[in-house]
Amino acid sequence: MWTPCGRADGNANSPRQSQFALDDLIDIPTDFSLYSTALKKFSQGMERPMYRNFRIVPNIIFGRGSFNQLDDVLKDRRVTADSWMVFVVDDVFTGKPLEGRFPLRGRDLLLWVNVDDEPKTRYIDELVARIRAYSPTAPAGIAGIGGGSAMDIAKAVSLMLNNPGSSADYQGWDLIKNPAVYHVAVPTLAGTGAEISRTTILTGPEKKLGINSDYTLYDQILLDPELLAGVPKNQWFYTGMDCYIHDVESLNGTFINEFSKAYGEKSRDLCREVFLDDSPAKDDKLMMASYFGGMSIAYSQVGACHALSYGLSYVLGIHHGVGCCIAFDQLEEIYPEGVQEFRQMMEKHDIPLPRNLTKDLDSASMEKMVTTALNLVPLWENCLGPDWANIMTRERAMELYKKM
Ligand SMILES: NC(=O)c1ccc[n+]([C@@H]2O[C@H](COP(=O)([O-])OP(=O)(O)OC[C@H]3O[C@@H](n4cnc5c(N)ncnc54)[C@H](O)[C@@H]3O)[C@@H](O)[C@H]2O)c1
Ligand SMILES: [Fe+2]
Repeated sequence: MWTPCGRADGNANSPRQSQFALDDLIDIPTDFSLYSTALKKFSQGMERPMYRNFRIVPNIIFGRGSFNQLDDVLKDRRVTADSWMVFVVDDVFTGKPLEGRFPLRGRDLLLWVNVDDEPKTRYIDELVARIRAYSPTAPAGIAGIGGGSAMDIAKAVSLMLNNPGSSADYQGWDLIKNPAVYHVAVPTLAGTGAEISRTTILTGPEKKLGINSDYTLYDQILLDPELLAGVPKNQWFYTGMDCYIHDVESLNGTFINEFSKAYGEKSRDLCREVFLDDSPAKDDKLMMASYFGGMSIAYSQVGACHALSYGLSYVLGIHHGVGCCIAFDQLEEIYPEGVQEFRQMMEKHDIPLPRNLTKDLDSASMEKMVTTALNLVPLWENCLGPDWANIMTRERAMELYKKM
């Protein structure tokens, strides 16, 4: 089993990296040309397979009401009388019952974060400065509580507390030098897989790109399905579909292998139970689907939908979950069964999809969207194989965008 997600170059500082203005939802190789060469050599039988050695989150608690154990988890890290924690929490919970349950002790800092816009490097730098100003000593841990955005903010803050400069300096692959401050995630929205991924996706002054590193991974995750209770229905659906689409793209991709298949199939089955069967345990199932979907793409890759959603996000600022839904709805030719099932799910839950988003866009913006999407070479190779560029031409990508 060879995974083209494994970096072929091994050089995260490659100057060519800066040519690509990419958001990274997934772990994309840094140098696409080297990557493509490696892929070709492999397909021609010229090179031995390279297997990716990837780290996963080492500690997991799962269960209804397990949020109450956060205090115990953090207690183990409060090794001195001065030890203090930072709670990085989505401000949607201000004044909500959950606020009263944060296990704050002593000098702990509660840092509300706003996720109306998806996380920016400038915002991360501001939060890090606030934490540093709060205390001359580093916190013993960070607890990130919220959806994909808040979890990504907490990841980035914990990295930047131990690494100098701006978070923008570390957008890329394995640029982080020092391990992060201990960090724990508590998802309150399920689907992105951010709780188990090795990236934190940030928009910087020059590019939208993740900080990808083994240090980015959470040290601990606490999955409490009860926390999904108050999610607005459309958001629940869009973020849940992010997971379903991870599964469809992984399972139907050319990079598929038994590792990714095992996780992807289970995740897709769970999504069906959640979105088609209305399982009474749907929150529990969606939380596990998100985790399994993330594990599936960690050893394969996403595909056409994520590539196209990328253009929508980069040019129009459309949020990840809904952007994936908008793009997926136009991909019946590529993922016929997946798209049909997705529409069934959408209909069952009466979910609206924003339409005509590109109607008034000028041609430069349209071209930028196409370029952004087509730059995501590994996603297209996974989706359509090595000959992808002859199949997904600029014209075809443009036609797809015009329908969105
Ligand atoms: N790191 C990764 O591997 C990875 C993967 C995919 C996406 N992402 C990132 O995740 C983000 C998208 O995350 P998301 O789809 O989970 O949405 P989100 O975190 O952006 O949240 C969406 C909305 O839901 C609200 N919300 C969250 N939990 C809630 C709850 N329990 N009750 C009520 N409202 C709640 C938030 O306040 C926000 O308004 C994007 O920034 C994307 O780039 C990261
Ligand atoms: Fe995604």
